[in-house]
Amino acid sequence: MRVTVDRDRCSGHVRCAALAPQVYRLDEEGYAAAGAHPVPPGQERPAERGALACPEGAISVSR
Ligand code: F3S
Repeated sequence: MRVTVDRDRCSGHVRCAALAPQVYRLDEEGYAAAGAHPVPPGQERPAERGALACPEGAISVSR
C-alpha cells in the first residue's frame, strides 16, 4: 500500500500525521510531505484513517 499527498490541496490541517505519524511526515513548513509514500507494515489502518480525516481530500490511497 502507498499513500499520495497532493501538495496543491494540503492546507496543513495535520490530521493525517496526528492519526498516523509513522505514515505522514510533515515538511519544514508544516504541510504533509508531498508525493507518494510507501506505508510501513502494520500501518495500513492508520494510513487509511489519516487519509479519510483530511478535510481537503488531499490524500489518496492505493494498493
Ligand atoms: Fe494536509 Fe490534509 Fe494532512 S490538509 S497536513 S494532508 S490532514
